[in-house]
Amino acid sequence: MEESMESEGMSSVRMLGLKLPTDPRWVNIAEKSLEEILTDHAFCEQKAASSGISLIIKYPEKKRVVEEVTPLVAEEWGHFRRVLKEMNKRGFSLGNARRDEYVHQLFATKKKGGSREDQLVEDLLICAMIEARSCERFRLLSLYCSDVDLRKFYHEFMVSEAGHYRMFLDLAKEYLPENVVKQRWQTLLDQEAQIVTGLEFRGDRVH
Ligand SMILES: [Fe+2]
Ligand SMILES: [Fe+2]
Repeated sequence: MEESMESEGMSSVRMLGLKLPTDPRWVNIAEKSLEEILTDHAFCEQKAASSGISLIIKYPEKKRVVEEVTPLVAEEWGHFRRVLKEMNKRGFSLGNARRDEYVHQLFATKKKGGSREDQLVEDLLICAMIEARSCERFRLLSLYCSDVDLRKFYHEFMVSEAGHYRMFLDLAKEYLPENVVKQRWQTLLDQEAQIVTGLEFRGDRVH
């Protein structure tokens, strides 16, 4: 079992390009604090919707960003509602929003300056990274959670966030040459692996 969990983790990171697979034992810890992890998950969806709105406000002249991010905002808000519904079903209450140390540290890696397109691509790649890591964690929950309903629930999120990851990466390639985007993405993948390594291993956080 342990071995197959490891290889499943590896195939997931290969698919997403992530440099560091999450220790699959994270699922066992996460399901022990379900109310906490669902609260954290709900606020991850809220933050995804909020950062989509911020992108539209920041780059209104970028037609493709506005066109593609607008439906994403609606989808992420739908995800928030979906998590809330799942919590209600289980008699859980939504706790307080917490600071997301992972997201905070990712944004700290943002390169300053350059053109407006450079800044946009920085933002888009960080959004893609958050989607990729969320997708990887949801995938683990969809495979190994002991609750069958939650497995299905997380499978849906995994599929959806994988689509968002692709969308943000494709958008980035619209605004800077592909080789530039690929190079920056590789650097960001290394930085992300370092961030994940440095973070406390806890089951009450999606990241
Ligand atoms: Fe989402
Ligand atoms: Fe997403």
